[in-house]
Parts: sequence; structure tokens; C-alpha cells
Amino acid sequence: MKILAIETSCDETAVCILEAKGGVKKPVFKLLSNSLFSQAKLHEEFGGVYPNLARREHQKNLVPLFLKTLKKIEPNFSESKVLNIDSKKLKAKSKKLQALLEREPELLEQFEKNILYLPKPKIDKIAVTVGPGLEPALWVGISFAKALSALWDIPVVPVNHMKGHFLAPLAEGEKIEFPALGLLISGGHTELVVAKDPTSYKIVGKTVDDACGEAYDKVARILGLPYPGGPEVAKIASQARSQKLKTESSYILPRPMINTKDLNFSFSGLKTAVLYMVQKIPHLDLEIKKEIAKEFEESVKDVLVKKTEKALRTYKVKTLVVGGGVSANTYIKKHLEILAKKEKVKILVSSKSLATDNAVMIAVAGFFAKEKPISKIKAEGNLSL
Ligand code: KG4
Ligand code: ZN
Repeated sequence: MKILAIETSCDETAVCILEAKGGVKKPVFKLLSNSLFSQAKLHEEFGGVYPNLARREHQKNLVPLFLKTLKKIEPNFSESKVLNIDSKKLKAKSKKLQALLEREPELLEQFEKNILYLPKPKIDKIAVTVGPGLEPALWVGISFAKALSALWDIPVVPVNHMKGHFLAPLAEGEKIEFPALGLLISGGHTELVVAKDPTSYKIVGKTVDDACGEAYDKVARILGLPYPGGPEVAKIASQARSQKLKTESSYILPRPMINTKDLNFSFSGLKTAVLYMVQKIPHLDLEIKKEIAKEFEESVKDVLVKKTEKALRTYKVKTLVVGGGVSANTYIKKHLEILAKKEKVKILVSSKSLATDNAVMIAVAGFFAKEKPISKIKAEGNLSL
């Protein structure tokens, strides 16, 4: 089965085609074509993702990205090929598409110009992210998926973005042994989840305020580093570690909620502590920034490791899956690997390109998800697992 996946929940426009063989018990995935366009540079001046800009950019980039992705698996598939559809049929189709793409005028224009006359490609289902995420951004991908479905009669499966982060390692040939614990650390979420199988999840802990990646991004801003801040903070923190800069006592930060009995997190106070610390420093030079970044990362690592340890001891699981953008962090990953070894569980962390947002993880989650009539599919910004 060939799955086309579309991801537009935040500031990455992503499309892929993934082949899935075997049943839901033992699927084998093969990535046939994969494209991604990151808008991060455009959002930099806002210091975060600006929803309407994200929406406009998705509208602009989705059709070219889709055509590029498709061409890779069907090289003879020509953009200029005109089908012999009778004009009456075409008119009816066109009307339907206009209704489906009503809220995305730029996408409609590109769709009519570049896709309407194409032959049906060999795709068996369309997986699209429906949440959680920014609703104006999500709608672009959803409307596009619906339009493709209406044009070519291909079923659509709505996908939860966080399930995608959890299931991403499957795309790289890994096997998740269930029950599994997921530590999902992204720009919008920080969750500990217990999964019985690829479709049933229970959230056992989550952040009470900011997400882990959000804290990285905010600390980067406070330190005057570019957006997205996670990799930037990680970079200078790692420089501090390799220079063996000592953490001076004035650069000690709190470990919020590390000793609470529950499995919840809090990162907002940590960010504020960095802000107050920085406000007291008259000349914030790079060496001081490195030390602060290092101490911040140490705090995040300590809390994530401690809460994951607690969760592993509470829930007997076979696998620990770490997913979401922050799982691309080498230092945090290393310490979670040490923990998994100590607790004798298998650990899976995707490679960097599958840790941050992408369409491949949406295709994998789409393989396990159920089809829905397109009239029932909508964006759900706060969709939970
Ligand atoms: O999963 P993701 O790509 O998007 C969301 O679903 O939110 O995660 C993005 C987040 C951003 O906050 C980014 O700063 C953070 O992941 N991130 C990192 C690293 N790479 C990305 N944080 C820490 N260290 C990294 N190497
Ligand atoms: Zn994500």
C-alpha cells in the first residue's frame, strides 16, 4: 500500500510517499519519496511561529512540494498531461474543489492550474495531520488532502501529530515492543504516555505550563540567539561542556517539579529564572551565555531523566520511545540512553530528520489510523492523544 502523507501543523510544510507492506502486526515500511520546506527563517523576526504567515506559506508551497514528491515515484507523470475528462464532469469536479478549497484561495488557484488535469497517481490512502497544532496551518493540509481525495477518489485518514512523533522510529526499521512508554518532547508538547499498541495511548504526565522545546526557544531569545532556539542553545551548551567551563554558583538554575510525586513537568519557571539571571548581568558575553545554556540544559535533562525514571518504575514497559524535536538533542538523548540501560528497557530515538516535524511519521501513524469521510475531517488545534 502506498500512503501519501501531508503535514502542515506548524512551520514545516512536508509531504511524503511511504510504502507499507505486511499487516498492522508486522508492517515493513519503505520511504519512496520525501520533501520538506522549513519556514523557520521567515518566522525568526517574530521569535516564534506566526500562525497566519505559516498558513500563507503552506498555501504557497504545498502544491510544488506535492508535485516534486510525486514525480520521484512516477517519473512519467507529467505536469502537462491533460486527461480526456468531458467538460461536464470537469465542471462538476471543479465546483466541488472550489467548495473544499474555499478558505485557501492561493491553494485553489495552484490546484486548478497544476493538479486538476493530472492522471490519478498510484496512491492508496492520504494521511493528513489534523492536530494538535495551529488551526490556520492545519487547515491548509486538510483542505488539500480533501481536494485530492475528491479529485481522485482516494480515502483520507486523519492523523494525530503526537502519534506520529511516537511511531516515527518504525519508519527506520525499528520495532516497538508494547507496552511502551513515550516521552514526547516537542515545541508544543511535553508528555509521558503509555501505549498498549500503536493506536491506544494514555497520558500519564505532562507539562503544566510551557513545553520543553518552547522553553529552549524562549531561553534562546533571552540569550539573543536565533529562532528556532533549541539547536542554538544546545550548540553553545555543548561548547561549554567541551571547554569544561565551570558552573559558577551564580549560574545555578532550579529543577522545577523534579521531586513531585506525579509525572508532570513545568518549564515556565525555569525560563523566568534564566530571564532574571540575565537581567542581573551587566555584560552578557558569549562565555556567560554558554554557561547559562549549559546549566539550563542540565536542568532540563535532570528533570526529564528523573520523571522518565519514575514513569518506568511505575509502568512496566518493554520499550521507551523518545520523540519530538527535543529528542534531536544529543546530550538529552545520551542521558536517556543511560537511564534505559540502567532500567533494562529498550530505547528508541529517531534520527534527527525524523525527530523534528516531518511527513514520514504522519504516514506511519496513518497506516494504523482509520479512514473518515472527508465531510467529518476538521482541524483540532488541541487534539489530545
Ligand atoms: O517536534 P517539533 O519539530 O515541532 C513541534 O511539534 O513542536 O519540535 C520543535 C522543537 C522546537 O522548540 C526546537 O527548538 C526544538 O524542538 N529542538 C531542539 C533541538 N532541535 C529542535 N531542542 C533542543 N535541542 C535540539 N537539538
Ligand atoms: Zn512536532
